[in-house]
Amino acid sequence: GENWILMVTAQTPTNIAVIKYWGKRDESLILPINSSISVTLDPSHLCTTTTVSVSPSFKQDCMWLNGKEISLSGGRFQRCLREIRSRACDVEDEKKGFKIAKKDWEKLHVHIASYNNFPTAAGLASSAAGFACLVFSLAKLMNLKEDHGQLSAIARQGSGSACRSLFGGFVKWDMGKESDGSDSIAIPLVDEKHWDELVIVIAVVSAHQKETSSTSGMRDTVETSPLIQHRAKEVVPKRIVQMEEAISNRDFSTFAHLSCSDSNQFHAVCLDTSPPIFYMNDTSHRIISLVEKWNRSEGTPQVAYTFDAGPNAAMIARNRKVATLLLQKLLYCFPPQADADLDSYVIGDKSLLK
Ligand code: PMV
Repeated sequence: GENWILMVTAQTPTNIAVIKYWGKRDESLILPINSSISVTLDPSHLCTTTTVSVSPSFKQDCMWLNGKEISLSGGRFQRCLREIRSRACDVEDEKKGFKIAKKDWEKLHVHIASYNNFPTAAGLASSAAGFACLVFSLAKLMNLKEDHGQLSAIARQGSGSACRSLFGGFVKWDMGKESDGSDSIAIPLVDEKHWDELVIVIAVVSAHQKETSSTSGMRDTVETSPLIQHRAKEVVPKRIVQMEEAISNRDFSTFAHLSCSDSNQFHAVCLDTSPPIFYMNDTSHRIISLVEKWNRSEGTPQVAYTFDAGPNAAMIARNRKVATLLLQKLLYCFPPQADADLDSYVIGDKSLLK
């Protein structure tokens, strides 16, 4: 009969770039001006869980984020939905005598319910996990035959950084050469087991939403910064090669040096934008000083830091012992109190705080 509902649930962690994506060469397809490399977090950290369902009784496509209905009318949602629907295949369950034919997907509507396991208001990158999870769960529901790389090119059209969340471990987003974006896809470098000593600590510096969206920030930087072309053409291509090698060799010194330098250069091109974009604040700067001093005093880097389009710090410790020390240092420098500079010291692995 017409009384059925089919559901798929998927979970996708967010990712943190260690070589940053900043600047588009094509705004509607979301094609970047340089390649980037990221590490996908453990799902216990920042992740999105999405349930997608289809039923002939659904009158339109709808979406809820953390229980609140949100609009799907935005171009990025529409693009992802259109790309997935156009690749939908037959879905058949012989035992239940159930079949959705390829052509039925054009008329059927979906309901999408998405949850973040972290406060969305904390201004932490949620679009990466969100679009990756949306695309992946819809692809499963509609029985797409595309592989993760091809799906990453669809997620990319929701949010650039989302394409990297289709894989775990360290992931490269190759900028690609084609004008249709077909080769601007995520490529897994090594899986999460390759370098499992690393521990990622995220310090929530501010619970406020970021000031400048990445979309308008990137546009302004590309239009006004004289430094961005130098970064994209001369600096990042070399760093991509060096970073791939550092990851493959588990060379933490090179890894930390490249990550910190690239975060700082990303914030430098933001400052080089007119009007200038300030994503980091005093607390972010104090965290950088703390890590830099510590790394220098040890003679060899212990912790890498990186900041995205906001003041929150993502820190990668070379091992668990160092991560515990890092937390002690953070707690000492930023004592928890009512008007604390840090809202939260660690997201995910709370056992580090014990
Ligand atoms: O994908 P977007 O539009 O959220 O942009 C992400 C930009 C950075 O987070 C600052 C860098 C990156 O590579 O993720």
